[in-house]
Amino acid sequence: MNPGIWGLKRFLILKNNIDIYFFSGTGNTLLVAGKISEKLSSAGYKVKLLPIEKTNPSEVNVGNTIGLAFPVAVQSTYPFVWDFIENLPEGNGTEIFMFDTLAAFSGGIVGALKTFLLKKKYIPVGAKEIKMPSNFLTVSGNSGKNRKKVAKGLQAAEKYAGELINGTASWGRIPVLCKVLFLLGTSKSVWKSLSEKTGMSVSEDKCIKCGLCARLCPVNNIEMKEYPVFSKKCQLCMRCISFCPSKAILKCGREVKSYRAVEAPALI
Ligand SMILES: Cc1cc2nc3c(=O)[nH]c(=O)nc-3n(C[C@H](O)[C@H](O)[C@H](O)COP(=O)(O)O)c2cc1C
Ligand code: SF4
Ligand code: SF4
Repeated sequence: MNPGIWGLKRFLILKNNIDIYFFSGTGNTLLVAGKISEKLSSAGYKVKLLPIEKTNPSEVNVGNTIGLAFPVAVQSTYPFVWDFIENLPEGNGTEIFMFDTLAAFSGGIVGALKTFLLKKKYIPVGAKEIKMPSNFLTVSGNSGKNRKKVAKGLQAAEKYAGELINGTASWGRIPVLCKVLFLLGTSKSVWKSLSEKTGMSVSEDKCIKCGLCARLCPVNNIEMKEYPVFSKKCQLCMRCISFCPSKAILKCGREVKSYRAVEAPALI
């Protein structure tokens, strides 16, 4: 039924099996995905949460309803997340929904993603951007203020899951500047210069050589020799900095305040 013609709310039936492909650098998106999965499961759906960095996109099962979840980064999302999306198989009428988490504002991703998915023959059924604490240039770490933001974000997640269940979710408005912001957020030169300017390094005095940073890096940018050695593929997801047990990872040669919403095992 077309709501545009009849002015009625779409009555949507998600498939019984829902696969949510997610990436989360520091846990915000994982918490939100967990809440959405919990609510969908309590309504009888069989939901799987699958990490994008461990999934071959060509093996995504388009026979199930698909969810995509990721953090906003530079008005878009991380290049390797976008690569995953670009390499999804043709949808042939598969319902797909998305949600992202962000600190303040995103203009680039929601509209561009919808356009892309329509071309790939998916049916975009819902999009939601959920505010959570910033994990970049954070000044407040895991403060009480951030805990309140998380609680509010999880409430918004629960509401969105309810909308997906009862068919009132929508993909929303596409901002006018969407295309420009999307091009900025997916520009290889922008990411290269960001990665070089804010590069990670290790303080050998502090490092306890546990190798956790190398295991956590979603793009294998860290090789564990005697100490971690950083290559040039960093996508600034903040995992290594946020979970290093001895705060040994430096950004631009300096120690920075870090934020995390979960503990490391949840992301390995
Ligand atoms: C490199 C980088 C760029 C970011 N860019 C944006 C942005 O453009 N807009 C925004 O609102 N938040 C931005 N953020 C904040 C994150 O989107 C936000 O904290 C998100 O919830 C982190 O999710 P995660 O914990 O699942 O990784 C950025 C964070 C990083 C690390
Ligand atoms: S996580 Fe921290 S302490 Fe462990 S190897 Fe990496 S830099 Fe060193
Ligand atoms: S090096 Fe650190 S910040 Fe860069 S992609 Fe790997 S885990 Fe993320």
